[in-house]
This record gives sequence, structure tokens and C-alpha cells, in this order.
Amino acid sequence: MEKALNLDLKKILIERKVIQKKVEIIGKEISSDFAGKKLIVIAILKGSVIFFADLIREITVPVEIEFLRISSYGSGAESSGKICLEQEIAVDVTGKNVLIVEDIVDSGNTLKFLLDYFAQKGAQSIRSCVLLDKPSRRVVDIKADYICFEVPDDFIVGYGLDYNQKYRNLPYLAILKKECYIKNDIQ
Ligand code: PRP
Repeated sequence: MEKALNLDLKKILIERKVIQKKVEIIGKEISSDFAGKKLIVIAILKGSVIFFADLIREITVPVEIEFLRISSYGSGAESSGKICLEQEIAVDVTGKNVLIVEDIVDSGNTLKFLLDYFAQKGAQSIRSCVLLDKPSRRVVDIKADYICFEVPDDFIVGYGLDYNQKYRNLPYLAILKKECYIKNDIQ
């Protein structure tokens, strides 16, 4: 049983059990694709942190984990389009198999930035795994290699995703009520 629905939420979009099952499947797929190889799995902070923690436990090939902090949204509901690298990774990825783990691909700007970033750092291979894909918002022609769920153009929070740093700890994915973000975005 999920906890009572937070009053700011319109509805639960994806239940915790459904997320867990899908993460298990994607973890198996990654393990099979990288059989016999090592992986460096990079969590893109902060949104991916819960997905990342669950996903790496479903991967059976040896992994190293690293963290990269990046932000693009500012504080509102719309992406600023400007990407800020706030915390670099601490290791050399030259010649390594990199797996980028993101919570969502929206415009695609962040994923494009990350692919270029790791290519410049000399990674041997670069793959991306995302929890949510919102193709209707795409600006850059890009697609992640592993996608858990394709979602509509609603404001989604929970399981790591936030609005103004709230709701990341919800154990499910939910749609935020419009009035909760529209009122805050009007200056
Ligand atoms: C979100 C999300 C992705 C990016 C996707 O990050 O985590 O990194 O935006 O948007 P895009 O495809 O339009 O580039 P955000 O800046 O909200 O930071 P957070 O991960 O700390 O929540």
C-alpha cells in the first residue's frame, strides 16, 4: 500500500512496484550488453540518485560509481536551457565504458552536453540510461540507449524528481497539480 497521496499531486503516474520491475529488466539488459566488461556508472545529480541506487543493484557486471552535478532548470518549471556543470567527476574515464544515468530527458540539452563531455574526456564507450523520456519536449535530436518509461508532457515529481527541490523522496512517480507550479512561476 502506498502512503496517502500528497495533496499537491494530481495522480500517481507510475507506482513503486512498476518502477522496481522495470529497473530490474533494464539492469538485466545492461548486464547482458556489458557481459565480460567493466562499467563506470555515472549518476547525474541530483535527480537520478534514487533511480541510480536501485539500478546499480540490478547490474551484475563489475561497476565503479561516480557522480556529476549538473543543473539546467534554475528554480522554475521550465528549463533555462543553460547547463551548469556544478561538480566535476573525480576520476579519469579515459578508455573506460561509461554509463550515464539520468532521471529524465526533456529538451535533450543535458544529455547532449553529457555525451560531448565524456567524449572529450576520452571514454572508450558512452551509453545513457534514463528513467523517463519526454519526447514531446525534445529540442535536440537525441535518444537514450536505455529508457524505462516514455511519459507525457506533464510535470512529474517523485523517485528523485523535484519541483523547487521538493518531492524527491516520494517512492512513486506522480503528476504535480498545475496550480502548484504555475502560481510559483508567475512573478
Ligand atoms: C533535470 C534532469 C536532467 C535535465 C533534463 O535536471 O535531471 O538533468 O533536467 O532536461 P533537458 O533534457 O531539458 O536538458 P535539473 O536541472 O532539474 O537538476 P536536478 O537533477 O538536480 O533536479
